[in-house]
Amino acid sequence: MKKEIKGYSKLSKMQKIDWLTDNYFNGNQEVKAELISFWHEDLTVQNRFDEFSENTLTNFYMPFGIAPNFLIDDEMYCIPMVIEESSVVAAMSKSAKFWLDKGGFHTAIIDTKKIGQVHFIFSGDHLKLQEHFSSIKAQLLEGGKYLTVNMDARGGGVTDIELIDMTAHEPDYFQLKVSFETCDSMGANFINTVLEEYANSLKELVNADTGFGDTPLIIMSIVSNYTPDCMVRAWVTCKIEDLGEVNGVPAEIFAKKFKTAVRIAEVDPHRATTHNKGIYNGIDAVIIATGNDFRAVEACGHTYAARNGRYSSLTHCSLEDGMFKFWIDLPLAVGTVGGLTQLHPLVKRSLQILGNPDAQQLMKFCAVAGLAQNFAALRALTTVGIQQGHMKMHLLNILNHLNASEEEKTFALTYFKDKVVSFTTTRVMLEQLRSAKVKDGR
Ligand code: HMG
Repeated sequence: MKKEIKGYSKLSKMQKIDWLTDNYFNGNQEVKAELISFWHEDLTVQNRFDEFSENTLTNFYMPFGIAPNFLIDDEMYCIPMVIEESSVVAAMSKSAKFWLDKGGFHTAIIDTKKIGQVHFIFSGDHLKLQEHFSSIKAQLLEGGKYLTVNMDARGGGVTDIELIDMTAHEPDYFQLKVSFETCDSMGANFINTVLEEYANSLKELVNADTGFGDTPLIIMSIVSNYTPDCMVRAWVTCKIEDLGEVNGVPAEIFAKKFKTAVRIAEVDPHRATTHNKGIYNGIDAVIIATGNDFRAVEACGHTYAARNGRYSSLTHCSLEDGMFKFWIDLPLAVGTVGGLTQLHPLVKRSLQILGNPDAQQLMKFCAVAGLAQNFAALRALTTVGIQQGHMKMHLLNILNHLNASEEEKTFALTYFKDKVVSFTTTRVMLEQLRSAKVKDGR
């Protein structure tokens, strides 16, 4: 069994690497050299990367690419994406091209409200708390003004505080449910700071001395990552006949199969999970490229997808009056200021590629990415199947895994043009190629 280490966080970066190498790689210096080889050559940049997290040893590379040709609300865009999965960027790009001559993608912001909660237990006079809440609220708002003044000046701030009685779920449990407008920031830090101030003030305003019988026991004060009222819609629409023949399937039949595929994800949680996973292939890639928090964004979307008690599709499709319409309603909280947005050099570039969007515009790009990704996946699934395109892209990964040379890769790309790609078929092809070479004496 490995031994515990105390004070690892206090070691220098090199000492941390040495400890890891000694304890997990038998002191193998190649491992150490490999970790160091991924450091940025400019140490100022490297120090910045180190400080994004803790106990940083090196950098973990991910592919950064773009999906071009997106017509969104009558403007052309390239969408930056950071993702390690084959065929996602290709699929998004393919969707962009598909919709380019059909009006492109359309978007609308539905709302931008964010939520934070102070959870507390109060065993004093419940009725009095409720009766006096409007005066308590006014005092909380006033007392927190010194924290919200800048956000207020930007047109944001605290928009409401509600007292939520949760005693039906847990004895004496109440919440302050605070609504925020955080403008171009994702807002978590601002929200948490304000909530902690309200929690302290609440104890001063509500206690035995002020006639409430008891002081609230603050359990916690924290932003909620569920933001069903911070919502964007994206959609595509065209005449059914304008869909054209899709992978050999006539427009009318394709549209019906596509709509049924979406319906299946609406009614079956097993399918919905995979369907929404595909949607987040697109969204997460943009979220990471723009330095946002993909865990928060995913958690929010999945909660929303389960809001009616059954996990369901985030996208929807209708065929009415000869029109195909496909859309997504996506709750998410993102920022274009603060956090990594000014610190990570490639995040800055991503935002520049998108035309330095504000938070609402970034919400729109994310929704378009999710919709485009889902369109590509369903387009393939309901016609030729997913493996054809996905495995075509995955082929290079398999070839790399099998240590194929550049020459072998070139051969494989032609060889598999009309054949099924799998790990086994690729391995067999390589074995045959290599043994033919041996026979030929090459
Ligand atoms: P294709 O028709 O073979 O592509 O499609 P093509 O070679 O004819 O190229 C057409 C265009 O596609 C290109 O235009 C690009 O826009 C794009 P061009 O740039 O030539 O003017 N494209 C590419 N872009 C970048 N790099 C590439 C590339 N290849 C094509 N290498 C494609 C091939 C993979 C796009 C198609 O088969 C497809 O969309 N398949 C769906 C793949 C997919 O959805 N992948 C997502 C990951 S799997 C997933 O989401 C999980 C899932 O379970 C979700 C679910 O179940 O719902 C499926």
